[in-house]
Amino acid sequence: MKVFAHRGFSGAYPENTMLAFRKAIEAGADGIELDIHESSDGKLVIIHDESLIRTTGVDKLVSDLTLKELVRIKAAKTKDDAFETPIPSFEEFCDFMASNGSFITNVEIKTNNTWYQDIERKAIDMVRSFGLQDRIIFSSFNWISVMRAKQLAPEIECGFLYEGQKHLHLAPQALEAGIQYLHPDYALLDDETVAECKRCNIGLNVWTINTEERMRQLMAWDVNTVITNYPDMCLRLLGR
Ligand code: G3P
Ligand code: CA
Repeated sequence: MKVFAHRGFSGAYPENTMLAFRKAIEAGADGIELDIHESSDGKLVIIHDESLIRTTGVDKLVSDLTLKELVRIKAAKTKDDAFETPIPSFEEFCDFMASNGSFITNVEIKTNNTWYQDIERKAIDMVRSFGLQDRIIFSSFNWISVMRAKQLAPEIECGFLYEGQKHLHLAPQALEAGIQYLHPDYALLDDETVAECKRCNIGLNVWTINTEERMRQLMAWDVNTVITNYPDMCLRLLGR
């Protein structure tokens, strides 16, 4: 089972920052999960919310500011501003990824509230320009966005991300659509879904696992990936 650091090593460092990504890899995580949005000048940045307020304290939207303005803003509000690390661009992250080992990145395309025009194509162009196609998994709560990414880049793996609503027999539908993974909220996972995914050869990347009890259940289910704020805890339980 692989361990992906959710928004980087966000249990200990400011989420979705280069510091949190570096610390996750140093801790031994197999991969990173991150979220992308678009700046006012159409560039990709890594941040979870449409608004900057929760992670930076700035009362503006990501789409109000240019890339140049965004990457100057410190993104450590969730850790009491104890770190200087700013909002990263997706380009900076891809550059880091290309020159650091072989870890995987699950890029969540945040088009569930705001659908940025052509964000899928921009993300794919960036990934291809760094030659990272075989180290990326695209996912989104917006499954049209997932299908668009798959259509534009059949060589890059994709996953259907979901929460809240139970989906019956989603694995055969993913298989038919050429999608490789389901990314369910832990609360929606059950024995039947796990068995059906195994029958259909659809992988399961499950989020967000921050307790040992849930981690042990995922180990018993033998899912592909656990996505966690605490990669150190999961790696320890796995004896790594
Ligand atoms: O991709 C899994 C998880 O990150 C989805 O929820 O809100 O943390 O982006 P959220
Ligand atoms: Ca996410």
